[in-house]
Amino acid sequence: MRGIQITQYVKGPEELKISNLPDPVPKPNEYLVRIHATACNFFDLLQIRGIYQHQPKIPWISGSEFSGVVVNAPTSLPGGKKPKYKKGDRVFGAAQGGYATLICIGEERLRPIPDGWDFFDAAGLFVTMPTSYAGLVTRAGIKSGDYVLVHAAAGGVGLAAVQIAKAFGATVIATAGNKHKLEVAKSFGADYGVDYRANDWTDQVKAITPNKRGVDIVYDPVGLISQSMKCIAWNGRLLVIGFAGGELEKMGTNRILLKNVSVVGLHWGAYSIHEPETIEEVWDGIFKLVAEGKIRGTNFTDEEFVGLERVPAALKALGERGTWGKVVVKVPQEGASKI
Ligand SMILES: NC(=O)c1ccc[n+]([C@@H]2O[C@H](COP(=O)([O-])OP(=O)(O)OC[C@H]3O[C@@H](n4cnc5c(N)ncnc54)[C@H](OP(=O)(O)O)[C@@H]3O)[C@@H](O)[C@H]2O)c1
Repeated sequence: MRGIQITQYVKGPEELKISNLPDPVPKPNEYLVRIHATACNFFDLLQIRGIYQHQPKIPWISGSEFSGVVVNAPTSLPGGKKPKYKKGDRVFGAAQGGYATLICIGEERLRPIPDGWDFFDAAGLFVTMPTSYAGLVTRAGIKSGDYVLVHAAAGGVGLAAVQIAKAFGATVIATAGNKHKLEVAKSFGADYGVDYRANDWTDQVKAITPNKRGVDIVYDPVGLISQSMKCIAWNGRLLVIGFAGGELEKMGTNRILLKNVSVVGLHWGAYSIHEPETIEEVWDGIFKLVAEGKIRGTNFTDEEFVGLERVPAALKALGERGTWGKVVVKVPQEGASKI
């Protein structure tokens, strides 16, 4: 197979090299999947530099989220279980080694590509969509009529959150760092856009809500919980999703009491350890919205990335904050045209 193997840490994505490698051999309980599209994540940039919380033993293959076709199903599953997918099925998922043409993976980390979706759209679904669904639905109890503030709304989890909040009948106020990204968020359904580089962005958000009461839910992948306290309504929920801004906040807890609000965390990756049954509920909810046509792929389309050789450029663009949605690289099949 071909893949981006890390034999030593690099300073940046421009140093990544694509090499010919032996085909991976799945364990008896694993699938072998041929990758057709692979999605970039910010944590890939940290991992290739050796500064991510999860660093495999060198050598390892970079990347994680992908979509593709099952080459081989497991030969033996616990309790004699029948494999859910068979050779030829179209799947998406995530495991270490997404920047490659083949990957070995367990069944729990695969899902079927929804009808009508292509490899390109499905490649970036596995992490962002359930994060936003579990955050808004499972943790924040979103309901019709809520005002929901989605920070960094044109980012990967942001565009997923915008669509899910709209599907549940909420009014969505999107924030982003430039005009183009605000337009993108609106094209995915956001009702209002506020540039959070403005000093008075919290006032602008309040002014949009009825009687300036503030929003019911704040969806925060950036690290803006403290500032968002200024524009949350009585009984509101502040969802801690991430810290893309790079700072961990400190906040006086008296403000939580005074405004009668809840600060709620979401650690999607840890549901597989603590609450696997909820993972199924979340995916059932997502596939229902997909079937109803309420969710579409959020891929960055301002520039096209085709071939594993383009992964470094795709990662560089992501790291420079120049992209929106999910940055996905198409992986043409050997012998097929790249166009
Ligand atoms: N809790 C969970 O289980 C979970 C699951 C998945 C992801 N996450 C976290 O959620 C966060 C967002 O993930 P994502 O996949 O949506 O990332 P992304 O696509 O890269 O989007 C992040 C957005 O954050 C904004 N941002 C603000 N300050 C930034 C800065 N200093 N550097 C870079 N971006 C900045 C950017 O929007 P503007 O340019 O418009 O400001 C950017 O679009 C990450 O921290 C990730 O780790 C958490």
